[in-house]
Amino acid sequence: MSQNHGQWTSRFSYVLAATGAAVGLGNIWKFPYIMGENGGGAFVLVYLVCIALIGIPVMMAEVMIGKFGRQTPARSAVLMAKASGRSSAWRVTGWGGVAAGFLILSFYVVIAGWAVAYTWYGFSGRFENQGAEQIGLLFTELNAGPWALMGWSGFIVLGTVLVVGKGLQKGLEKAVNLMMPILFVLLAIMVGYAAATGNFSEAVQFMFAADFSKLSWNGVLIALGHSFFTLSLASGIMMMYGAYLPDNTSLVKTSVYIAIMDTLVALMAGLAIFPIVFANGLPAGAGPGLIFQSLPIAFGQMPLGQLFGGSFFLMVVVAAFTSSIALIESSVAWLVENRGLSRWQASASAGFAIWLASLLTVFSLTGAEWSVVSLWGDIRISFFDLLDYITANIMLPLGGLIIAVFASWAVSEEISRRTLDTTPALYRLWQLSLRFVAPVAIVAVFLNLIGVLNL
Ligand code: PHE
Ligand code: NA
Repeated sequence: MSQNHGQWTSRFSYVLAATGAAVGLGNIWKFPYIMGENGGGAFVLVYLVCIALIGIPVMMAEVMIGKFGRQTPARSAVLMAKASGRSSAWRVTGWGGVAAGFLILSFYVVIAGWAVAYTWYGFSGRFENQGAEQIGLLFTELNAGPWALMGWSGFIVLGTVLVVGKGLQKGLEKAVNLMMPILFVLLAIMVGYAAATGNFSEAVQFMFAADFSKLSWNGVLIALGHSFFTLSLASGIMMMYGAYLPDNTSLVKTSVYIAIMDTLVALMAGLAIFPIVFANGLPAGAGPGLIFQSLPIAFGQMPLGQLFGGSFFLMVVVAAFTSSIALIESSVAWLVENRGLSRWQASASAGFAIWLASLLTVFSLTGAEWSVVSLWGDIRISFFDLLDYITANIMLPLGGLIIAVFASWAVSEEISRRTLDTTPALYRLWQLSLRFVAPVAIVAVFLNLIGVLNL
């Protein structure tokens, strides 16, 4: 077995690590704001359908590849391709993750840096008795210049490098083991608080009444892309975890379990945020700052809000941190395998490169003039938006498409049936969704968007 990464001793820590990678900023920060920007209910419905029909089967495919090879992603994919009599070019299924993981992490650490800053703001009482306007100002100030953002995100980069470089994941597991349930409980309390004091009925209406006139095709692509992003798919991570899937663990059941946990956290985040958004007259489409401009209003008014607000953002930091560790892992494994670096050298170099790349996002947020690029036509977009769009909406769906085709068409049925190890009916269902549903849906959304198809 490859010694490139820590090993999961039990089924429990495997599930925990995979859930830790899945649950992160995607659930608490990104899902609410892209839902808000794309009109709510119809977007949520498309997102849920994508998770169920595409995300879960692709996740199973990735874990299956990792489980079969018990190696780093690209090597596992090659082993599986060869065993099925296919070309080793299928190693691309394992490659996509290195670039995607790197680019995602470059903006992920900056957003996680926001959460570090807000942990400090929360504990030090900066939210106390502040109205929507002052809370909005706090966010504007944080993004006024590059230094604060560089400092806060620096914490995350450093922490990630230290943990991954020194191989401390095992020790961290115990801490995370405790904190994930705390995050869950804090979120549940926030939903309760928002229901009691905010505009809960409008929020529920917004999130669950599907009005398709509010959803564009670009919105559909964003929902599809987010279903990959939130489950950590097409980034090599699930293959890596699959390599350590304990023998007595059901691949199918744990994949479903992880997807359900992830979806629950995202929906709870929405239910915690939108009642406050509507009660305070904030725009649902406020963008990436949504959670930071809404929740602190509630923390500032509720009893024990100082302790509560600080703890909440601390848990967001923890969730982001466990995802960052997973995200850097594909770059680190690649450097160790192909460049012969030690683990420590690899994580330090990856960390430095990521920190440099994160400056693109930092300066996009502070509004530096050079951070806005012109694309074709009169489309102007910041590096941050560009990175987010290219990774989540193009690289991950494309990667997912390749994985789906590989697992369901290229891999021999005998091998996939044995590795997946499930009932014949579930196997057929899985195969069907990867052979037809996922490819057709992904290709149709792409073609429609570039105007070849006109749905
Ligand atoms: N799934 C993580 C989240 O929702 C982000 C992530 C994407 C992590 C891709 C790993 C790989 O925040
Ligand atoms: Na997620």
